[in-house]
Amino acid sequence: MIEPLISLGQTNVAIPPMGLGTWQWGDRIFWSYGKTHSESNLQPAFNYALEQGINFFDTAEVYGQGQSERLLGKCIQAAGKPVVVATKFFPFPWRLLRSNLRSALRASLGRLGLKQVDLYQIHWPFLPVPVEAWAEALADACQDGLVRAVGVSNYNEKQLRRSYSVLSRREVKLASNQISYSLLDRAIEKNGMLKLCQELGVTVIAYSPLAKGMLSGKYTPENPPPGMRNRLYNAAYLAKIQPLVRLLREIGLAHGGKLPSQVALNWVICKGAVPIPGVKNIQQAQDNVNALGWRLTPEEVTTLDQASDEI
Ligand SMILES: NC(=O)c1ccc[n+]([C@@H]2O[C@H](COP(=O)([O-])OP(=O)(O)OC[C@H]3O[C@@H](n4cnc5c(N)ncnc54)[C@H](OP(=O)(O)O)[C@@H]3O)[C@@H](O)[C@H]2O)c1
Repeated sequence: MIEPLISLGQTNVAIPPMGLGTWQWGDRIFWSYGKTHSESNLQPAFNYALEQGINFFDTAEVYGQGQSERLLGKCIQAAGKPVVVATKFFPFPWRLLRSNLRSALRASLGRLGLKQVDLYQIHWPFLPVPVEAWAEALADACQDGLVRAVGVSNYNEKQLRRSYSVLSRREVKLASNQISYSLLDRAIEKNGMLKLCQELGVTVIAYSPLAKGMLSGKYTPENPPPGMRNRLYNAAYLAKIQPLVRLLREIGLAHGGKLPSQVALNWVICKGAVPIPGVKNIQQAQDNVNALGWRLTPEEVTTLDQASDEI
């Protein structure tokens, strides 16, 4: 193991300081599964991460319409080693009852081939069901032993506080808020979410920590990302982020040749959050694992903050 484990929130679930995201696994629409990567790429990536102590995997029932959970389940069964699995419930507008969460959870467990998930998260705080009702349903699942810890995702301060207090009444700790966080999206620093989570002992799980690949440095105005990411990150935006990418590269060199992606992930860890970069193959898993085992200096973090403020 490259680094000691940390607690997920104030629960007894232990995780490494970085996990691995699996939205890419089975998702054809956004991540071009079947074109850029396929099932044969996943087990090697999974095994490599596991060997290096990255045993925390994030998925969701909606990723690839259940395919991500199925593919992750296959990897887990084949490896036969203990892992920490996080998945998510999607509050579709037709899901109106607390019992809907229980059914969705059972379906996720079936696809994953598990009896219990380590972290069950509400994917988005969508109406019409108030967040309190889903918090009650999470507490039920926890108390029935179907999940070890519960979390939320994409919640704002009010939604997080409301869920936290319902769970506290049920004597369940809210373990985490999974939210977008990277050098190209620092909203949680500015809107107080990062601070609130730290005060409440809730782990911030940082999704899109590489800004969907943009912080790897491989995308430029001349080499834009393929598929739907093209619309999110146009040539003008890619041109704007190049000074930050250059700085990531420069700082990486001062750390023995770390890659921009590794510096970007390390920055998230230095801020006190747990990044879960999504990977498509073993090469990306290997690169990302090397974001661990070292830390940026406080001065480098400040310099990166300043460069990201310029964008
Ligand atoms: N809760 C939520 O609402 C939510 C939303 C989004 C994501 N998530 C979770 O967070 C995870 C990560 O977020 P994300 O997938 O959106 O974005 P990300 O981790 O910022 O970017 C992932 C993409 O970056 C590229 N990449 C990864 N490692 C790389 C490396 N070492 N070198 C070069 N390129 C690399 C790959 O795409 P290419 O090779 O195609 O460039 C990969 O698909 C997801 O898998 C999912 O589990 C949750």
